[in-house]
Amino acid sequence: METKHAYLLSGSAGHSLSPVMHNAAFGELGLDARYEALSVTQDELPEVVARLREGNVYGANVTIPHKLAVIPLIDNLTPEAQSVGAVNTILNRGGELTGHNTDLTGFLRALREDSGYDPESRDVVMLGAGGSARAVGLALLRVGATLGIANRTQSRAEALARSLERYGHVAAIRPFDLGRAVQRASLLVNTTSAGHETHGAGQLPLPHGFLPREMVVDIIYRPVKTPLLVAAEAAGLRTQNGLPMLVYQGAEAFERWTGQPAPIEVMFRALRGAL
Ligand SMILES: NC(=O)c1ccc[n+]([C@@H]2O[C@H](COP(=O)([O-])OP(=O)(O)OC[C@H]3O[C@@H](n4cnc5c(N)ncnc54)[C@H](OP(=O)(O)O)[C@@H]3O)[C@@H](O)[C@H]2O)c1
Repeated sequence: METKHAYLLSGSAGHSLSPVMHNAAFGELGLDARYEALSVTQDELPEVVARLREGNVYGANVTIPHKLAVIPLIDNLTPEAQSVGAVNTILNRGGELTGHNTDLTGFLRALREDSGYDPESRDVVMLGAGGSARAVGLALLRVGATLGIANRTQSRAEALARSLERYGHVAAIRPFDLGRAVQRASLLVNTTSAGHETHGAGQLPLPHGFLPREMVVDIIYRPVKTPLLVAAEAAGLRTQNGLPMLVYQGAEAFERWTGQPAPIEVMFRALRGAL
């Protein structure tokens, strides 16, 4: 049997945790398979994607800056990838390439399976209007949450809310309404970079003391506890950092490639050891 391959297509593959997580999972299931991170330029992308059609390739993960650029190079999109408008996983089936978005499903599985929290019909405030906000926002609307979006650049919150309107109850939150909206919400989700160890170290993504009623999720995993999560914990709220979302988006990709249930605990352990 030939060794199977999966790849990460990224602009700068050096810092990715995905190889550690997927190679641990392949090892746990005794699969003869390797996951490798590749730094790919825009010019190289068509040739690299074409090679994913080969028989010994499961597929790939795709990250910044290629999540949109791969779309014209593959054959099909799942409804999730179509609604998000971005692909983070490619599956090769007999030379045909399908684009998935496992950030959306991974976020929901993380919330439900790791924290036992169901956002269905909850009032949720989401901070941020970037790439991950679109996947997280859609995930929440699809399970019937009512979503308010706040962002540093207000016009981007408004544009994202407008583009999500057909999926459920969503509105942009004006800055002076933020305190009231957060206090009324059950769940607060941070998808901004504020608090990230290199892009927003030590920062809170909203004014101090603005906290929801039940739970705070911060999708950042470096550091493992952002200032927002520290404040939420101190107030006695339930919290989740970005590690479960990273694991479950990876697990969804792994399950599609191999057809086998992902060894979630092994993937968590591999990531915790690498962080
Ligand atoms: N756990 C996971 O699996 C996972 C997956 C994807 C991303 N992430 C994390 O999510 C974060 C966002 O990623 P992304 O791809 O969505 O990035 P992005 O597309 O660049 O969007 C960044 C967002 O953060 C806001 N922002 C940046 N710096 C800020 C600051 N200092 N204060 C307040 N808002 C700020 C931006 O606001 P403006 O519109 O005003 O610029 C924008 O809404 C990153 O920290 C990333 O590591 C985690």
